[in-house]
Amino acid sequence: MAVAKNRCKITTIDQLMTHKVVLIPGDGIGPEVAEATQRIIDAAGANIEWTERHAGVAALERGADNVLPDDTTHAILEHGIALKGPCTTPIGGGFSSINVALRKKLNLYGAVRPVRSMDGVPTRYDDVDLIVVRENTEGLYSGIENVISKGVVTSLKVATEDACRRISKFAFKFASDQRRKKVTVFHKANIMKLSDGLFLDCARDEHKKGGFDLEYEEVIIDAGCMRIVQDPKYFDVILCENLYGDVISDLCAGLVGGLGVTPGANFGETNAVFEAVHGSAPDIAGQNIANPLALLMSGVMMLRHIARTRDDATCKDAANRIRDAYNASLIAGEKTRDLGGSLGTSEFADAVIKRLK
Ligand code: NAI
Repeated sequence: MAVAKNRCKITTIDQLMTHKVVLIPGDGIGPEVAEATQRIIDAAGANIEWTERHAGVAALERGADNVLPDDTTHAILEHGIALKGPCTTPIGGGFSSINVALRKKLNLYGAVRPVRSMDGVPTRYDDVDLIVVRENTEGLYSGIENVISKGVVTSLKVATEDACRRISKFAFKFASDQRRKKVTVFHKANIMKLSDGLFLDCARDEHKKGGFDLEYEEVIIDAGCMRIVQDPKYFDVILCENLYGDVISDLCAGLVGGLGVTPGANFGETNAVFEAVHGSAPDIAGQNIANPLALLMSGVMMLRHIARTRDDATCKDAANRIRDAYNASLIAGEKTRDLGGSLGTSEFADAVIKRLK
């Protein structure tokens, strides 16, 4: 009763406040999971006004002359928030990653990927609850590669003090805001003494300067990977440079049910783009079998971000109700195939909508 009364009051106040969000469906399974996610967010009564823009192969198919059209980046800069489906990047040749370009262009330097065990998704581990924080703008992802001579190529790993400090500060503040206890920095500074060494120096220094009530730890990444699969509960927040964060995110997704249940967000100073950890999954695209949950959970992160930064109770309420609804669906066995269920992408969305309270 109290909840219903409260919700009534919230709706009246927030009818005045609508949030414009750029929706980028993306490639492969992107349009299917984006449609399901958008439908659930709308059904939950979140006050979102969607502006659809395109990136990737989808943009080329609509007549754009490149994979990241200006009207897409301009729309994100204008509204500050986007929900993005995955975009395909060709392997070995062809165009460079749109995802990397977007993160660099908008300076979305901090990726946050929460990894949590979920009731109704049985895995080897019961109570994994960790967050991967990944530097998003440099490292080996700089894509600076050269052919030195026939049969010899180099790939440059870039580390700058500014970016290493910025991601460290971000990670400690984020961990502290989330009331986390420990930040573990994954590195390979025994081999990459200068680049990973700089990352460690900055992380140590920012931890000391910030005065955070957080335990600080450094772990060499290979030993860290072994520890993750042996005892994932040991970790709380893991801070990494770009490539390590990419690999560790998928490793951690495997602890809790796979890429269908691992959401993510990319933060800059003024913009945020929310996207699942998974890619465009061409092997299952167009078949209505992809799990939309990872993008939906990214959408819930987006609603919480709006609620927090714009003090909007309607978004907070919608985020909580969507989370409760998908948890109830999973517990009842209403799942897509990747989680051992039999529902299609759109049927799963229908099931979650039915469970919205
Ligand atoms: P992927 O994540 O697309 O797929 C890996 C495996 O997980 C596949 O077997 C796929 O069917 C499965 N999978 C992924 N998402 C799923 C979902 N929601 N439901 C059920 N099963 C799911 O990774 P892959 O194959 O390495 O990359 C495919 C393309 O996606 C590449 O072009 C890659 O560059 C791109 N990519 C884009 C990302 C982004 O836009 N942020 C992130 C990762 C990859």
